[in-house]
Amino acid sequence: MSNPSPVRSYLSPKVYGSETIISDVTDRDRAEEAFRQSETRFRVLIENASDAITLLGRDGRLKYVSAAAVRLMGYTAEEIMGVAPAELTHPDDLPTVMRRLAEALRRPAKIASVQYRFRHKDGTWLWLESTISNLLGEPSVAAIVFNFRDISERKQAEAEIHGRLAELEAVNQVSTASRSAQTLEEMLPVLLDVTLKLMDASAGSISLYDPLKDELRTAIKRGWLVPSGPIPPQKPGTGVTGHVLVSGQPYLSRSFRDDPLLEELNRARFPPGGGVCLPIRAGDTVIGTIVVIVPVPREVTASELRLLTILSEIAGNAIQRTTLHQQTERRMQQLSALSVIDRAISSSFDLSISLTTLLNQVITQLGADAADVLLYEAGSQTLKFIAGQGFRIAASKQIRLRLGEGYAGRAILERRLVQVPDLASAPESPLLARTLASEGFVSYLGVPLIAKGQIMGVLEIFQRSALQPDGDWLEFLETLAGQAAIAIDNAMLFDSLQRSNTDLALAYDATIEGWSRALDLRDRETEGHTQRVTDLTIQLARAFGLSGEELAHARWGSLLHDIGKMGVPDQILLKPGPLTEEEWVVMKRHPRLAYEMLAPIQYLRAALDIPYRHHEKWDGSGYPLGLKGEQIPLTARIFAVVDVWDALSSDRPYRLAWPEEKVRAHVLALAGTHFDPEVVRVSMESGVLGRKGGD
Ligand code: C2E
Ligand code: SIN
Ligand code: SIN
Ligand code: FE
Ligand code: FE
Repeated sequence: MSNPSPVRSYLSPKVYGSETIISDVTDRDRAEEAFRQSETRFRVLIENASDAITLLGRDGRLKYVSAAAVRLMGYTAEEIMGVAPAELTHPDDLPTVMRRLAEALRRPAKIASVQYRFRHKDGTWLWLESTISNLLGEPSVAAIVFNFRDISERKQAEAEIHGRLAELEAVNQVSTASRSAQTLEEMLPVLLDVTLKLMDASAGSISLYDPLKDELRTAIKRGWLVPSGPIPPQKPGTGVTGHVLVSGQPYLSRSFRDDPLLEELNRARFPPGGGVCLPIRAGDTVIGTIVVIVPVPREVTASELRLLTILSEIAGNAIQRTTLHQQTERRMQQLSALSVIDRAISSSFDLSISLTTLLNQVITQLGADAADVLLYEAGSQTLKFIAGQGFRIAASKQIRLRLGEGYAGRAILERRLVQVPDLASAPESPLLARTLASEGFVSYLGVPLIAKGQIMGVLEIFQRSALQPDGDWLEFLETLAGQAAIAIDNAMLFDSLQRSNTDLALAYDATIEGWSRALDLRDRETEGHTQRVTDLTIQLARAFGLSGEELAHARWGSLLHDIGKMGVPDQILLKPGPLTEEEWVVMKRHPRLAYEMLAPIQYLRAALDIPYRHHEKWDGSGYPLGLKGEQIPLTARIFAVVDVWDALSSDRPYRLAWPEEKVRAHVLALAGTHFDPEVVRVSMESGVLGRKGGD
């Protein structure tokens, strides 16, 4: 050991001196001189090194702190000397540091490396990366050497990136989950559960706003205290959720149970913890709220709030998409229900058979428990049971009521729907009350059946639970009531073959229009695309001399022209760019799908020409059949021109609208190839499409 290590010499010259056996004085002088030189060199080196260095003694306290270390930690050398660094190390990181230290103690040859947080003088945490060398065995050092630098910035950048990745992953999970669900009932639990899992949260709820009742209802909740019972609906502006519904802003709370906004009755059953309630939006409208509750004492951080905001946006879009989808499906079923009843009415002379078919649809489409039709006999002013479904007790069918007695009588006298949400609290006639009680009915609805201004009877609906009809439900009930009235009217006139075509046409018209509006929404078609192409098609059809039923069929066909797109998945339909070959295959199925959907509906058969043939082309290059020239029905040839005209004039997910001159030139150029040249000529000359003569 002729050349003392600089560290050793710097630290403990005395120890060095006492431990080293140097007999020759001259040698010793020389050695001391060399040592002084190297010490100076080393001191300069260590003091100017950018890395900070500290030495830790056996007692776990600091026995040397370099200038860089002093600067970094913010303490003065006097303050920090003798301190145990363990006390300034972040408790979460201390075990790791201790483990590395233990390794270093066990195996002095190994240099350990560790990252940990260290408290700066100002109280903030620094991230340090340090190597640990065990020089305890070097008698002149007798210390553990920490050689470290500040990596706080790098750590922060890493945390940022991890945060972003976690967000992306979360967004991905929630949107995947919401896409796979077809109904709200399937989707809401998935949305809530994924969100809670991502937030590592214990409880939460999603509430949806019901515009008809003007209230927020909790659609799903997790982690509420038992027995929580159903959460009562919240009026806008009241409670936490009602407040967020109105303000449209997230609301943070440290403890919901103690929050001044929470209504008294909700306090006890609200899960403990704080968190946030966020609005769920579809476009500009707040359609509901989501509550996320985190266990005490956690609070929702700014980045969590940002993530939740993104998630609630995705949820809003998904909820709206699913609602539209469900509405469309329901309309579809309603339309085929109407056609089933229609067939029954026209093919049966027996009124009770027609009405039984109708009541079956009331039960399946409207989810009623039981329903009946009472016939009104004007002469005796009595109501007589004629058909019923869903009753348990035969005696129920014997009800015969004097006009003015009971709810049915009232529906007739007042010529309006009578609704009794809770039969128990509003008993009418004793007989009726007994029957209702033994059947277990809870709520009641009576609709007067009116045809050509005459009262025909009453359609009654009985429910063994509370009935909460929405607008759509009531609308369809009225349509069915209209059909029942027509059926009775027909039978009364002994004229069941001459049923009123106009009345039925009106019933269909309302349903088809509602349906086509829902289709436009899904397609994100420019506002009113379907209505415009329908109007233009009718104008042109008139110009070609069509009238009466032909026009009605052209109208329905136009309204439903792209109904086949219901079978095209969102990824393709709403794709912002051009379609791939495989996607075209799916897209090109839509006319055939329309055929399959509409053909079973007798009443719409004649309206199929447009949905089925609107992509055929004059020169035979269209689809699905490749029909040519006048093989293509005239209304479909007319419609094709109108549809392309309006499509090109509108923004689409895959391109922006074209200016009118470009559209006109395009349509003119396709006369004789894509389009029937005669249709193009008439549409331009009549001025139905754009201005006349291209001025
Ligand atoms: P759509 O958007 O209602 O368009 C109806 C018809 O208008 C089209 O039938 C086509 O004949 C004409 N048309 C619409 N936009 C353009 C255009 O930018 N250039 C030209 N030259 N013609 C246009 P087509 O081609 O059979 O398409 C049927 C449906 O397929 C479209 O209905 C749309 O839903 C979908 N589609 C067509 N191209 C794309 C696309 O590039 N991306 C996406 N995502 N969908 C597309
Ligand atoms: C809820 O329990 O979700 C409603 C409570 C509130 O909005 O205050
Ligand atoms: C369509 O309009 O449905 C099909 C697209 C095409 O083949 O041009
Ligand atoms: Fe189409
Ligand atoms: Fe269209």
